[in-house]
Amino acid sequence: MAKEIKNVEYGLEKIFEGAQDFLPLLGTDYVEFYVGNAKQSAHYYKTAFGFQSFAYAGLETGLKDRTSYVLKQDKIKLILTTALKSDSPIGEHVKKHGDGVKVIALWVEDARKAFEETTKRGAKVYMEPTVEKDENGEVVRAGIYTYGETVHMFVERKNYKGTFLPGFREWKSDYNPTPVGLKFIDHMVGNVGWNQMNPTVKWYEEVMGFVNFLSFDDKQIHTEYSALMSKVMSNGNGRIKFPINEPAKGNKKSQIEEYIEFYEGAGVQHLALATDDIIKTVGELKARGVEFLPPPPQAYYDDIPKRLGVHKDMMKEDIKELQKLSILVDADEEGYLLQIFTKPVEDRPTLFYEIIQRMGAKGFGAGNFKALFESIEREQALRGTL
Ligand code: FE2
Repeated sequence: MAKEIKNVEYGLEKIFEGAQDFLPLLGTDYVEFYVGNAKQSAHYYKTAFGFQSFAYAGLETGLKDRTSYVLKQDKIKLILTTALKSDSPIGEHVKKHGDGVKVIALWVEDARKAFEETTKRGAKVYMEPTVEKDENGEVVRAGIYTYGETVHMFVERKNYKGTFLPGFREWKSDYNPTPVGLKFIDHMVGNVGWNQMNPTVKWYEEVMGFVNFLSFDDKQIHTEYSALMSKVMSNGNGRIKFPINEPAKGNKKSQIEEYIEFYEGAGVQHLALATDDIIKTVGELKARGVEFLPPPPQAYYDDIPKRLGVHKDMMKEDIKELQKLSILVDADEEGYLLQIFTKPVEDRPTLFYEIIQRMGAKGFGAGNFKALFESIEREQALRGTL
């Protein structure tokens, strides 16, 4: 496993030993969802999650086959896209997978070079480098497939001054619920099927130059009923982190199997959105109707001081308040983190969200896995899919 070279805040320089420099990534650009009804999804993300109206493309802007709403909250940009006719790859995607993530777009200096470097290392082409222009300049985009039907799009926007992308117009709305304090995407997790973990990890290493910097096996991640394996992939500067999950054998069906069954293949399991005040953010989200997993038992909260170890005195939050909101706490050598998981945000038990506040810790809440998965399994049992 790769080692971190130095203990610094994530900047542009390389911080992971072994990461390759052929694909410099500046950050996440946007995440595009293919959904059954973009207009209504946009309303949900605005009302429930505090996203702001940002850009729009559809019949009024000259498109014939689709409508896209772009939403923004601080650095997070989501596109919700829906097909306007049945004969459409977007419609096919929704028919097979339900609402889900199609594109994880990565911001690069040079999209042509990113495309060339990754395809020459074996990436499957989704979209050849394409230049899009309007009066505000030009954007170059190129795409490759990752797991399942999910795509990484490289976005070069250094010669563009417009709101979002050529073809989109600014979206002004009279309905503007306040943001809830979500800042940026901390990580995005992919679920893959049986025996697909290692090929996926190898793909990120070889094609994208990423490193595997954390791994959890089924002995670490299991409950009485089910198990899974997880490996965290990062690019060189640590800005992009993609944990990958694979189911493992257990007595009953793991949540990863349930996902694969209902998504009908590999895909994005959750987006972790960062806040710097999780109590305020989660309080707001709950008041606006976002559903979270039920809280772990009392014993979990009694154990928090022990779990925090040396960071115990550093914790500013009141444990009772965390418990009231069912927020989870974990710690590693460098600090602690606070996190909570929503229920799936569509009818299929597939994609959900994590809200995370890092107080120095760089892990993914491994200390919470058991409590979390038991909570998910109680939900699975209600669905009859455990
Ligand atoms: Fe996560």
